[in-house]
Amino acid sequence: MEHWWKEAVVYQIYTKSYYDTNGDGIGDLRGIIQKLDYINSLGASVIWLNPIYKSPDVDNGYDIADYQSIDERYGTLEDFKELLTQVHQRGMRLIMDMVLNHTSDEHRWFQESRSSKDNPYRDYYIWRPGKDGKEPNNWGNYFYEGRGSAWEYDEHTGEYYLHNYSRKMPDLNWDNADLRDAMCRMMRWWLDLGVDGFRMDAINRLVKPKGLPDSPNPLTPPVGIYGYVVDRTMCANRPGIHELLHELNEKVFSRYDIMVVGETGNVDAAIAIDYVKEEREEIDMVFHFEIAKNPVLVDAVKFKEVQRRWYHVVEQHGWITQYLSNHDTPRQVSRFGDDQKYRYESATMLATLMHTHPGTVYIYQGEEIGMTNVEFPSIEYYNEKYTVGKYYTMVESGRSPEEALASLRMMSRDNDRTPMQWNSGENGGFTTGSPWMHVNPNYVSINVAEEECAEKSVLRYYRKLTAMRRQYPIMVYGSYRQIMEEDPELIVYVREYQGDRWLIVCNFYDGIRELSGIVKAYPEMEKRELILCNYLSMENEQEIRPYEARIYCLRDRKI
Ligand code: GLC
Ligand code: CA
Repeated sequence: MEHWWKEAVVYQIYTKSYYDTNGDGIGDLRGIIQKLDYINSLGASVIWLNPIYKSPDVDNGYDIADYQSIDERYGTLEDFKELLTQVHQRGMRLIMDMVLNHTSDEHRWFQESRSSKDNPYRDYYIWRPGKDGKEPNNWGNYFYEGRGSAWEYDEHTGEYYLHNYSRKMPDLNWDNADLRDAMCRMMRWWLDLGVDGFRMDAINRLVKPKGLPDSPNPLTPPVGIYGYVVDRTMCANRPGIHELLHELNEKVFSRYDIMVVGETGNVDAAIAIDYVKEEREEIDMVFHFEIAKNPVLVDAVKFKEVQRRWYHVVEQHGWITQYLSNHDTPRQVSRFGDDQKYRYESATMLATLMHTHPGTVYIYQGEEIGMTNVEFPSIEYYNEKYTVGKYYTMVESGRSPEEALASLRMMSRDNDRTPMQWNSGENGGFTTGSPWMHVNPNYVSINVAEEECAEKSVLRYYRKLTAMRRQYPIMVYGSYRQIMEEDPELIVYVREYQGDRWLIVCNFYDGIRELSGIVKAYPEMEKRELILCNYLSMENEQEIRPYEARIYCLRDRKI
């Protein structure tokens, strides 16, 4: 079935790092309004905003203190409404990040909840008495915060509350019917304002395992010196989660023409089917972690294997996403490409892969100009809780500071959170004040202004791809079949749609390969016409250059 959100190119904005208009060093909503023409020129059709709600900001807004107000650092509700109006005026849409797994401990519900055992909000969160003078179970928090437990003792009532993330982010209890109603009302309030959907944070973790048992997972040894086990499978995909999502769909999502994309760690293609199969009426698509967030570097063979499995979901059941980076990952050109010698070539090759694979495309701010990872000299420069928590846990367990930092550098979530690089002026043009986070020093050469006029421009190549996606439905709806599945360097596949046929060739590495090998494997490509290539010229078609990407149209039809 056709849907606008299948055709969408989503542009993810981390407001805090996008564009600052009042000189306080923090990006804001008026900054996004000022950049809407830029975003529109990129060819994005949907904007996804990371959380902008009122928040004490221990996890950059994922700790929400009030779901129905805008954090004053980002602006006001009036600014938000103006942003939404201006987005719609340009024919684009806007989706919000919706965090339902936890709130901030400063949320009114939690303040009530912790005040007494018989407070009506007590049961909105997950409280347990201690066990033999210790925490209720062996779970460790995902941020490696403090001594590492996922439980925090609260003296006032003498019980522990669960927090899978920071102790400032208590987990909610979705068994509570009043909580469910309050959340549905809140989501409808945003949709009635006109927002076009949600990105649902950690959505497959809302339902906890019955009885909250210890983690038995032998593959996940205790971390740090206190023996807590960081086992993300404990709260993932538990019985009851599908009934809950179906309920949210019935009470909220299905009543609007919106898109809903879930963030789902610990989900592979087989598990995903139950979330996205249309008849099940839960959510539209999920973000899996198999490529972008895989701690092991994904090579060409693995990339193809993952894509084949996920394509099966599209073929038979529902819809999928394509992304290579977001605010929780490294920069894609640094992770999968070469951010030095072949920065332009590899950034554009990766973009080609994303835009020509089936699924909704997600571009993370800065990716479109080939922004790279950052090399901070010491831990003090790092902001985000996971890197900092893990660093101290490693040091406490006997690793040297250098070793700890070296092992965290590539995957640190701060790589993607440095401010957007607009020009070569001070602070990359992000702010006239002092930026909340250090700007990547390479802003002098990597920035939007430069990309607008450079001969080799990642930005202009992105614009071509998004324009083609609007023009050619084959890029969205075409069938997908790989050629040379086991080739360790080339990613080659055929898309077909209503009599059209395309062949896409991407060199995932910096070596040189011969086209003849592909022609041999796929003789139907004899009559081909090149429609896009990331290199500026083509002297010798036979030679596939480092990180080269080509899109061919195969003219084998009699017209
Ligand atoms: C998701 C967000 C991440 C956040 C976490 C807790 O994984 O993408 O940034 O830290 O949830 O809300
Ligand atoms: Ca600001």
